Amino acid sequence: MTLWLALVLIALVALAAGAAGYALSRRRASPPAAAAAQAPQAGLAEITAVLQALPHATVLLDETGRVAAKNAAAAELTGAAVGKPFAASFRVPDLLAAIEHVRDGAESAEAAFTLPVPVERSIEARVAPVEVGGRRYQLAFLHDITAMVRVERMRADFVANASHELRTPLTSLSGFIETILGPARDDPDATGRFLEIMQAQAQRMRRLIDDLLSLSRIELNEHVRPAAKADLAGIARDVVDAAQPALNRAGIKAVIDVAEGARPVTGARDELLQIAQNLIDNAVKYGGEGGDIEVNIFPSADGAATALSVSDKGPGIAREHIPRLTERFYRVDDAMSRERGGTGLGLAIVKHILNRHRGRLEIESEPGRGSKFTVFIPVWQPGAA
Ligand SMILES: Nc1ncnc2c1ncn2[C@@H]1O[C@H](COP(=O)(O)OP(=O)(O)O)[C@@H](O)[C@H]1O
Ligand SMILES: [Mg+2]
Repeated sequence: MTLWLALVLIALVALAAGAAGYALSRRRASPPAAAAAQAPQAGLAEITAVLQALPHATVLLDETGRVAAKNAAAAELTGAAVGKPFAASFRVPDLLAAIEHVRDGAESAEAAFTLPVPVERSIEARVAPVEVGGRRYQLAFLHDITAMVRVERMRADFVANASHELRTPLTSLSGFIETILGPARDDPDATGRFLEIMQAQAQRMRRLIDDLLSLSRIELNEHVRPAAKADLAGIARDVVDAAQPALNRAGIKAVIDVAEGARPVTGARDELLQIAQNLIDNAVKYGGEGGDIEVNIFPSADGAATALSVSDKGPGIAREHIPRLTERFYRVDDAMSRERGGTGLGLAIVKHILNRHRGRLEIESEPGRGSKFTVFIPVWQPGAA
């Protein structure tokens, strides 16, 4: 914001100087009145061209509060039209006060406000005085910070959610410690039972911290695309082997089918392993009661990617939840997820790994008919990253 404002001001000062020079040289040849009338016009045309090149809404106002120049972004945001009073099209008292403040001689003024319609937007505005062709103007620079505000809010929510998730098992641990030290001091049976619950709570905290660290590590590297060659079929086999104890407990099998023509992909093996682990773990945890699960590896329709899908015949997921499943800590059923050892971060991790791999996730599910999670990873190309 400040950098842009500095650039605009430098450009405007240069233009104003040019316009003034132009006025001076013209003054020698033509009557002074005509030169005075032409100078600001010539400056304003060039200023409009500069404003047009700026990504943020910017308006130049004259002493009477009329719009002297504006860019397309400003016209869209504020309805500003050259020659019209700015206050008539954009009635934001804080901004108008800042403009007046600068008109009255202030070196700069700022205003922050939100626009409720058509969608809520947060704007940060800065106003500074500029002189063009000997006349004084106010330059108002409007920066749409909606996306920044949203990210900030998400960050705050995330910290609150993560703290809450950790506090629950911690509270339970403290409670049991107190009981073992107090009322249950001489009861070895109860103590044994409590220690088992405490172990489960400690494991839950560990899973949560592991997932949080994993998420932050992936996010840090999200802009770096992995370059290695990886084999999804081998990865699926390794994950199913490792999941065998859980599959046995659930009394189901995981059947892997690798279609002909499924090619290696461009990716980091350990992260692709994490994707398969999360999807297979979810299928066993939430869809296992429906019977065996299926893992399919196959080429995408256009051949540019290899897909890995995990299908279960479980209870499925209602339509309204599907777009939100990859949000951090989003669960369809909080209690069920916790009871089955979930952290609510698995699919968020999947999404971030896919971003890094330029891949994508498709979720198909219908209540009562099971779920199918499919990831598409670009096929391996030497030097793709
Ligand atoms: N195969 C599935 N069948 C039904 N629901 C699922 C399935 N996979 C994921 N879900 C739902 O999506 C939610 C988020 O999944 P995930 O991010 O892996 O978190 P977690 O498994 O730790 O709860 C789960 O809590 C569950 O409600
Ligand atoms: Mg999960």
